[in-house]
Amino acid sequence: MIAITGASGQLGQLVIEELLNTVAADQLVAIVRNPSKIQTLADRGVQVRAASYEDKAALVKALAGVEKLLLISSSEVGQRAVQHRNVIEAAKEAGVKLIAYTSLLHADSSPLGLADEHVATEKMLQESGIPFVLLRNGWYTENYLASVPPALEHGVFIGSAGDGKIASATRTDYAAAAAKVMTLENQAGKVYELAGDHGWTLAELTTELTKQSGKTVVYQNLPEADFKAALLGAGLPEGLAALLANSDVGASKGGLFDDSRQLSALIGRPTTALAESLRAAL
Ligand SMILES: NC(=O)c1ccc[n+]([C@@H]2O[C@H](COP(=O)([O-])OP(=O)(O)OC[C@H]3O[C@@H](n4cnc5c(N)ncnc54)[C@H](OP(=O)(O)O)[C@@H]3O)[C@@H](O)[C@H]2O)c1
Repeated sequence: MIAITGASGQLGQLVIEELLNTVAADQLVAIVRNPSKIQTLADRGVQVRAASYEDKAALVKALAGVEKLLLISSSEVGQRAVQHRNVIEAAKEAGVKLIAYTSLLHADSSPLGLADEHVATEKMLQESGIPFVLLRNGWYTENYLASVPPALEHGVFIGSAGDGKIASATRTDYAAAAAKVMTLENQAGKVYELAGDHGWTLAELTTELTKQSGKTVVYQNLPEADFKAALLGAGLPEGLAALLANSDVGASKGGLFDDSRQLSALIGRPTTALAESLRAAL
C-alpha cells in the first residue's frame, strides 16, 4: 500500500490522480486532516484516513499496513520541522519501508530561507533509519500566475529575482514524478533535483506575456524590502510576503535554477513550458 500525506492539497490530489492510472484504488491511502475535503476519492475506492500532522497517534493508525509513504511537505511554514518529525516517527512505529519526501531544489545549498525546514526534515529522515528518497522540487510555475492579472492591469510585473533564471515546472509535472517514484523499484537513497527543462528570467516572462496578451508588460526589479512592502500593500499576510520576497532574492542568486533535466527524464516527457502555462492562465 502507498500512502500520501497532504492528500487534500493541490499537489496531493494530482499525485493520487496520477497513481490511479497504475495502482488499484484500494492500495492507496490518502492521509488528510479533513476527510470530507476528498470524499470523491473515497467514493472511488481510495482509503481516506484522518490524521493531522500534529497528532502522532492518529498518524500511526493512519499508516497501518502502509509500505511506501509520500510525505508531502506541510504548507504551515514555521511549523514544518515538528510536523514532519511526527510523520517520520509515526512511520517508524508503523513499519513503513520507504518514505519519499517533497523537499526543495538543491536544499542543502539553497540560498532560500525556505530551505531550513527542508534541510531539517532531510536530516530527520537520515537519522530515522527508514530508507528514503528525496524529491527536491523546484518552483511551481503556478506561483507566478497569480501575478498575471495585476501585471496586465498595471503594465508592470514586480519582483526581486533580478536576472536569476527560474527553471519552474507545473504541479502536474511534479505530481507525475512523485507518482512515478512511488511505483518504481529501488528508489531508496536516491536524490532527485526536479526542475523544468528551461529556465527563464522574470523579464523573459513579461516578454512572453506581452507577446501573448498584446498588452505591454515590463519587469521591474525591486529591493527585497520594497517588494515585500508591495506584497503587503496588495493584501498578502506578513509571513507570506516575507517568504515570497526572500525566495525571489534566492532566485536572483540561482537558487531556483537547475538544468539537469531529471524531471523530464523521470516522467518521460518534456516539462510544461512557461508559454503554455501563461496561455492557460490568460
Ligand atoms: N515548489 C513550490 O513552488 C511550492 C510552492 C508552494 C508550496 N510548496 C510546498 O509543497 C507542498 C504541496 O504543495 P501544494 O500546492 O499541494 O500545497 P497546498 O495545496 O497548500 O496543500 C497543502 C496540504 O498540506 C496539508 N496540511 C497543512 N497543514 C497540515 C496539518 N497540520 N496536518 C495535516 N495536513 C496539513 C493541507 O491540508 P488541508 O487541505 O486540510 O488544508 C493540504 O493537504 C506545500 O505544502 C509546501 O510545503 C511548494
